[in-house]
Amino acid sequence: MILVTGGAGFIGANFILDWLAASDEPVVNLDKLTYAGNLENLAALAHDARHVFVEGDIADRALVDALLARHKPRALAHFAAESHVDRSIRGPGEFIRTNVEGAFTLLEAARAYWSALPQAEKAAFRFHHVSTDEVYGSLAPEAAPFTETHPYAPNSPYSASKAASDHLARAWFHTYGLPVTISNCSNNYGPFHFPEKLIPLVILNALAGKPLPVYGDGQQMRDWLYVSDHCAAIRRILAAGQPGETYNVGGGNEMSNLALIKTICALLDTLEPRADGLPYARQIAHVADRPGHDRRYSINARKIERELGWKPRETLASGIEKTVRWYLEHDDWVTHAQSGAYREWMARHYGGAHA
Ligand code: NAD
Ligand code: DAU
Repeated sequence: MILVTGGAGFIGANFILDWLAASDEPVVNLDKLTYAGNLENLAALAHDARHVFVEGDIADRALVDALLARHKPRALAHFAAESHVDRSIRGPGEFIRTNVEGAFTLLEAARAYWSALPQAEKAAFRFHHVSTDEVYGSLAPEAAPFTETHPYAPNSPYSASKAASDHLARAWFHTYGLPVTISNCSNNYGPFHFPEKLIPLVILNALAGKPLPVYGDGQQMRDWLYVSDHCAAIRRILAAGQPGETYNVGGGNEMSNLALIKTICALLDTLEPRADGLPYARQIAHVADRPGHDRRYSINARKIERELGWKPRETLASGIEKTVRWYLEHDDWVTHAQSGAYREWMARHYGGAHA
């Protein structure tokens, strides 16, 4: 079996659903169920014995030790994190605790467990650390996309905390030989994406007749990857990745935020027209920029393509349409995701009509 952390969040839940659709190997899922964790994401596995859910903190060493001793995983896929840049700006403490101290705790627990394994199991064990392209910092407009050797230059408390955890993971390989792999991925989107993030926020605010908040001039560039393509990349790395290696993962879909928002608006104009027949783009509203906002990310994913044969399946057009349809068809999930803690965040961060 494998141990997954953060499996009740957006990417972790998609990963577990895809994993169990592709194989019968059981998954133990350790998740603290923060505001971003939602067991409804895993409702399809409610009666599936292959999924064992454990509510708990990755920074709880005794709990992690007990899980490793009891379930004896052959691999660990580490997704758990505080993941929202805007929250890290308003309150960085939890990001350091979970993303840095939590990662440290997991690495130490995994090292103790792995050291005591018989030789063959020890050689086969993998610790996969899921990270982000944001650790590389911001790119100039004409600069070449990030490769795996691009210098680290994190600019937000979130990306600094993820960079710290990447460095720890790397060091645990170099110093102790723990078979660590790392992936640095661009912006994901798709089902179960918590609506504090740009794409689901725009879809749901549009449908609710609310403003669509564009930070600054909206010309910041992001590379977008449909979430199941990210999950497939992680499955490939777990199966064939080389210990000590980093793999950049991206969709090859670079777009400005404003262009992306307009694309979503145009799709909604077709799939769910406004009652008054006017275009959703009328709801676009420029707001204050994010402090320290990175201007551009772009990923060179040739290494994982060349060495592990991974390529994204979805284009931005196909992935966005699937995503918009998913939100249109999942009213209950949306209503629950937008309950208490979500409304507080929206009011605090955007205020007024934007909330
Ligand atoms: P998310 O915020 O949707 O989910 C995070 C999950 O981790 C939640 O279920 C939460 O309950 C859990 N969690 C948080 N703190 C925990 C703790 N201390 N102990 C146990 N569980 C805890 O995040 P996501 O978007 O699914 O991102 C998953 C991982 O992928 C993160 O490591 C993130 O840095 C990375 N990543 C995300 C993206 C993206 O676009 N979302 C892109 C690249 C990399
Ligand atoms: O690049 C990978 C990263 O992508 C992950 O590591 C993070 O966990 C994930 O949250 C995401 O970070 P971003 O900051 O890029 O995602 P977000 O959806 O918050 O914002 C996307 C872009 O849209 C960013 O340039 C900020 C902008 N934005 C965002 C919001 C929420 C707006 O213009 N308006 C908004 O209201």
